Amino acid sequence: MYDLAILWDWIAFSVRWLHVITAMAWIGASFYFIALDLMLKPAEHMPEGASGEEWEVHGGGFYHTTKYMVAPAQMPEHLTWHKWQSYATWLSGAALLMIVYWVGGELYLLDPTKADLSLWQGILISGGSLTIGWLLYDAMCKSKLSEQPTLLMLLLFVILVVMSWGYNQIFTGRAALLHLGAFTATIMTANVFFQIMPNQRIVVADLKAGRTPDAKYGKIAKVRSTHNNYLTLPVVFLMLSNHYPLAFGTEYAWIIASLIFLTGVTIRHYFNTMHKTGKGPHWTWAVTVLLMLLIAWLSTVRTGDTWQEAEARALTPYEQRFASVPSFDAAYDTVIGSCSMCHAREPVWGNMQWAPKGVYLETRSDVARHASAIYLQAGVSHAMPPPNAVQMDADARSTLVTWVREVRNGE
Ligand code: HEC
Repeated sequence: MYDLAILWDWIAFSVRWLHVITAMAWIGASFYFIALDLMLKPAEHMPEGASGEEWEVHGGGFYHTTKYMVAPAQMPEHLTWHKWQSYATWLSGAALLMIVYWVGGELYLLDPTKADLSLWQGILISGGSLTIGWLLYDAMCKSKLSEQPTLLMLLLFVILVVMSWGYNQIFTGRAALLHLGAFTATIMTANVFFQIMPNQRIVVADLKAGRTPDAKYGKIAKVRSTHNNYLTLPVVFLMLSNHYPLAFGTEYAWIIASLIFLTGVTIRHYFNTMHKTGKGPHWTWAVTVLLMLLIAWLSTVRTGDTWQEAEARALTPYEQRFASVPSFDAAYDTVIGSCSMCHAREPVWGNMQWAPKGVYLETRSDVARHASAIYLQAGVSHAMPPPNAVQMDADARSTLVTWVREVRNGE
């Protein structure tokens, strides 16, 4: 049967698939070039303008790479650019953000216990904040601060902490962490699009015209690439965090996210040093483990509404839509019977500590808000409940389908 909700879920999955693949290509290329850069060694008989070379073996052959800093004497006949990995990652990421957090904003973006925003206000803050981050960062890099790279990095960290706190004041925990990741990743892609690539094009134009390119373009690109290098690992953590309620389900999620940026620096510092000197500083791992232990401890601080508080909260207009049809009561009873032992603020199933994926299905507003997810996970598919835990018969599933279709058909 043709069903928009199912089609939409497959579109979301496909875009996520694309996003992960393009991100792998971008990060893979970026890690490769950083390691290559650090491993280059000066050699005898290098061509004019070359600053180092490296031999590598892979895929049944040997590679001999030479780096020219800033550029070779003449424009080479074939030149491969590496930019689409970055652009495609950002574009697919932006599409995924819109699919999950804008279209699904009532469920995943807005948290009425934190801020009373309409969906449009939420979307405006979501999109606007990503742009503002880049403008601020870019202005900082172009100012006098650029002469003090360490101070610049520290200020960048302060901005990230402030954003982390800010997002957590208004959005759901998972949206907050994801937006912090998108905020950072936007800076990274914009570095490629607005700085690294245009400077590279100036150098190529100089070569074509027979001029000697200015060394400053290489230096600007290097600073921006260094920032990107230290930001990569935290961004991947933040993108994955929405699968782990421990990371986003506490009031201290903003501190957890801030500490993750420090682990990005310690881990990358180890590998950067190792690639350069053949030996990495081991203290960086001790610091990383300590930071992770601190994060794990922070994540156990239970905050948020208790069941009683959640039960007492009035339904939002969105929830009201799903709770006001006659078939809601039967669906609600089914969900309480088949789902709430796990999906509760204090789960009672096995030794489960936290509701899986942070999905609560206990109160009337919980159930109404999750209508589409319930329909997909337990109505038209058998993804939930886990079959070894609870058996749900066809009648119970059709109760859920009838409910959601009644709401949709009534509109
Ligand atoms: C025995 C425990 C248990 C029961 C009972 C259970 N679930 Fe789940 N649920 C899980 C687990 C575990 C996950 C996380 C799966 C994962 O990580 O991919 C989950 C995830 C989910 C998600 C999030 C899916 C996503 O990927 O975003 C939804 C929605 C959901 N369950 C709905 C339900 C509904 C509706 C019911 C009742 C009909 C139900 N669950 C019953 C354990 C349970």
